[in-house]
Amino acid sequence: MRALILSGGKGTRLRPLTHTGAKQLVPVANKPILWYGIERIVAAGVTDIGIIISPETGEEVRSKTGNGDRFGARITYILQEQPLGLAHAVKTAQPFLGDEPFIMYLGDNLIENQLQGFLTTFQSEHLDALILLRPVPNPTAFGVAKLDEQGRVLELVEKPQHPPSNLALVGIYLFTPMIHRAIAQIQPSARGELEITDAIQQLIRLGHPVKACQLEGWWLDTGKKDDLLEANRLILDSDLTTNIQGEIDGQSQVIGRVQIGVGSKLVNCTVRGPVKIGENCYLENCFIGPYSSIADGVTLQEVDLEHSVILDRASIAGIHQRLVDSVIGQRARLTAAPRRPKASRFLIGDDCQIELS
Ligand code: TTP
Repeated sequence: MRALILSGGKGTRLRPLTHTGAKQLVPVANKPILWYGIERIVAAGVTDIGIIISPETGEEVRSKTGNGDRFGARITYILQEQPLGLAHAVKTAQPFLGDEPFIMYLGDNLIENQLQGFLTTFQSEHLDALILLRPVPNPTAFGVAKLDEQGRVLELVEKPQHPPSNLALVGIYLFTPMIHRAIAQIQPSARGELEITDAIQQLIRLGHPVKACQLEGWWLDTGKKDDLLEANRLILDSDLTTNIQGEIDGQSQVIGRVQIGVGSKLVNCTVRGPVKIGENCYLENCFIGPYSSIADGVTLQEVDLEHSVILDRASIAGIHQRLVDSVIGQRARLTAAPRRPKASRFLIGDDCQIELS
């Protein structure tokens, strides 16, 4: 058994963060989204992992994630020259996958469940494909499945205008090598991509056993800002334990589950967990409210913050309004003018979203 994680693509929905970096490396509770997937796969006993990368962000994914030692896995990087679809990524990885069955995992997906149970079903029932489904309120944005009364998959459609059900395809699949044969028989869709839904549909058409399991726990496709904040909230809620390694002065107060990394310093701050603060941060005169993740090397002065994600080495000072539901990119600087401004001054990159009130 092998695993294939898709970490290429364009990442248009998380712009501007993904102008400069891979969306799969955007951190949730200070850990890249991609790494949660690797950990889930290794926990299911699969350690031979291929990661699809793009020419634009592949080097960053590779240098940050490494050869797999830190996960107890062996990672092979596979370059997909263009993001021509999920099935195209599988085709590109065929030399790595060989004749083995594999788990396919979209690198920007996060799920609560472990994978072991699905793997056991896939193997014991001799399936050629196992897909995971989850009811969603907006099925038009996803691949959607139509099932019969017995729960067998009748049809899969990609982003349908008139969805046959509210059951969306989660970005985790199990396949035998039969999928390669199905991919060889499909054509690019109207949006020019080789769709994995079409390949699975082809398996069904050829009479191969395809089963759908419903996912019980939460699932997030971290493609957008609010999904990212929600993923951060869920992970902080479920995984965070108190661990304070940084320095906290006598004026500061830490309440609830809080992690503070080595080399970080808090001066006159109140932190109300769950909150995760990385290494080598400096916080002075701040209130940090629940569900905030602050990455390494961040500086915050006179900041009141809640339910937000601050990326590496960002710096915020003197903002006398509470910052909520915000994602601040790496090395971003957010400051207030020294006196009450009559005018505002901005240097704002393409596609930024800033809301002043
Ligand atoms: P998507 O979210 O479907 O596509 P995208 O990355 O182009 O994102 P956006 O809609 O924001 O522009 O991709 C799901 C995952 O699969 C994601 O981790 C990127 C990866 N992927 C590839 O590796 N190769 C591909 O050809 C495609 C389409 C996606």
